[in-house]
Amino acid sequence: MEVIIQSDAQYASVVAARLISQLLREKPNAVIGFPSGQTPVPLYQELVRKYREGHIDFSRATTFNLDEFVGVPADHPASYHSFMHQHLFDHINIPKKNTHIPDGMAADIPEYCKRYEAEIEKAGGIDLQILGIGTEGHIGFNEPTSSLSSGMRTKTLTPRTRRDFAAQFGSEDRVPRYILTLGLGNVMKARTCVLLAFGKRKAHAVARTVEGPLTAMMPASVLQMHPIAKVFLDPQAASLLQNTSYYQWVYEGKPEWQKF
Ligand code: GLP
Repeated sequence: MEVIIQSDAQYASVVAARLISQLLREKPNAVIGFPSGQTPVPLYQELVRKYREGHIDFSRATTFNLDEFVGVPADHPASYHSFMHQHLFDHINIPKKNTHIPDGMAADIPEYCKRYEAEIEKAGGIDLQILGIGTEGHIGFNEPTSSLSSGMRTKTLTPRTRRDFAAQFGSEDRVPRYILTLGLGNVMKARTCVLLAFGKRKAHAVARTVEGPLTAMMPASVLQMHPIAKVFLDPQAASLLQNTSYYQWVYEGKPEWQKF
């Protein structure tokens, strides 16, 4: 895993956005996996800024989102559909048909999950998967004890994750109990994974993900098995790591051709 600690979330997001623009320059029809949550918001703002200034072109890109709440229609203000349109898709030149977000209202969920996975394959697989991380170490909505090779499916949210979403849904008891999520096995198939984590709240999960044992109790730790996983942090999220000075030394000494 490559650990990249920047001065703040804003700057870390600017650097992560450079990875996306590099990818789209090299491969204009790249397939990008996107997460929701507050963490990627500065990244999405930076992508919108780059698009407005003519530095990035999404016209041939394809995207797949990781997850959605079950039973929540696309036009619900707390849906991940609303979130993605509000923060990114409505402000860039990506054709709507190229964006994919799981349908939380799908009638036959197992069948729908198979189709969503098949669409990813048909698009050529995910080139770059952007990830956030939950306070208990989940990526997508793969809560602790999720199979490290899981495919897309429904999962039950932990009480803690439901508490984390109380504000968006108005109260904890209105937070859906079930969600649809790509699995850890799907994430591991992406050619490159980029995990973003900012703030003290994420420090424990980050330390266990990067330096702890590989375990289904900390689902993001599966990234230790990924050939190209980059972890972008601010100093607060990095505060419980043991090897910080090593990560900084590696980053500062990166050869020119590896910089982004
Ligand atoms: C949810 C999402 C994840 C996200 C996590 C953290 O569980 N499904 O993709 O990474 O929340 O959210 P936040 O970035 O708001 O802390």
